[in-house]
Amino acid sequence: MPLFKSLRNHHNYLTMRKQYLSTLAKTLKKSAIQQALEKSVDTDIISFSLGMPDTGILPLTEYKNAFQSINSPSILQYSSPLFSLKIHIANLMKERQIKCKPEQILLTSGAQQAMTLICKLLIDKGDSVIIEEISYPGFIQIAKSAHANLISTPVDYKNGIITEQLKKLLMKNKTPKLLYTIPEGHNPSGISLSNEKRLEIVNIASSWQLPIVEDDAYGFINYGKINPPLYSYSSGLVFYIGSFSKILSPAARLGWIIAPEYLIQKLEILKEGMDINTSTLSQYIINNYLNQGCLNEHLEFLKNHYKKKRDIMVEAIKHYIPEMDFSIPNSGFFIWGRLPDINTNKLFVQALENNKVSFLPGSAFGVKHNSSLATCLRLSFALCDINMIEIGIKRLKQALKEYKTRS
Ligand SMILES: Cc1ncc(COP(=O)(O)O)c(C=O)c1O
Repeated sequence: MPLFKSLRNHHNYLTMRKQYLSTLAKTLKKSAIQQALEKSVDTDIISFSLGMPDTGILPLTEYKNAFQSINSPSILQYSSPLFSLKIHIANLMKERQIKCKPEQILLTSGAQQAMTLICKLLIDKGDSVIIEEISYPGFIQIAKSAHANLISTPVDYKNGIITEQLKKLLMKNKTPKLLYTIPEGHNPSGISLSNEKRLEIVNIASSWQLPIVEDDAYGFINYGKINPPLYSYSSGLVFYIGSFSKILSPAARLGWIIAPEYLIQKLEILKEGMDINTSTLSQYIINNYLNQGCLNEHLEFLKNHYKKKRDIMVEAIKHYIPEMDFSIPNSGFFIWGRLPDINTNKLFVQALENNKVSFLPGSAFGVKHNSSLATCLRLSFALCDINMIEIGIKRLKQALKEYKTRS
């Protein structure tokens, strides 16, 4: 007992001392998104903050059926990637006008791991990575952990990357390791790039021999005509990342990378060192789900459902907050807005505490400190109950009114 006690004290001594942490760990702070996730447990709050799918439409019955088909204890083992699932994904990719062989697909634990692996594959400490000036914080975190030098490329909030600026940036930084971008239903800007812009980006990347990491997490959820992914313009230059999180369920933790075969083999080795294999159980559940042949119908349903939600939010903003400048997204879950003369960091705290509505302030998405983001915000229409969207926007209007009378 005395030995156990002294070991326990020793253990506390070690874990409580900051000096043991890595330089990176010492700087770690909870992101605005993590904080919002914690607050969203409060059921009184109408949440427009999180990019999560609508819980009410997650395919529980189909998952139960898929689970019923699990009939061998080997499915509870470590396993190599399920080839039939790769075939399903290769077929699914035809919807996005991508032709690939199953051998070019790496199954990952979500898109998040896909990005981590690609960064491990390409980045050494201090290497430059180009990223849109507002972007998905999950990638920013990964690139920082890889000790990359993040270089932000300017965007126009209606049309995405400003290609002239990207070219200028490449002149100055001649050897960046990759460009990370979300061409469809961008998080947070909601933008889907035009065909011309896609071509321009691929041409620029090609002339600089710059690999592109294309995050297509929202590529299957669209509300009108969409353009093919960057990968379909240049399969040798682009790492394509897909995910089942937004179209089936985030809990599956299942995503994929499409890349040339020899790189997939390298990525497989890196993945083994990270988590051995993508959950066998998840692979089988998704594979069995896809065997049921109902994904296309489910996708059509999702598109209609989220389109309705998008339209309700758009109408509510126009009606209750006409001063908000925003564009209507053609894909994905997000509306990016600008509220002249409003500090959205302050509004965020006040709206959450006094008005029980949440969103994410623009500053949560800045790659670097950027004062122009202080008046921006991201609203997600995906998670909130469809009947609560208008009420939530009314609450936001009230929050704005209170903010203005206070300041
Ligand atoms: C742009 C983007 N990429 C990737 C992810 C993470 O996806 P996954 O759940 O597949 O790891 C998200 C989640 O919000 C996202 O918005």
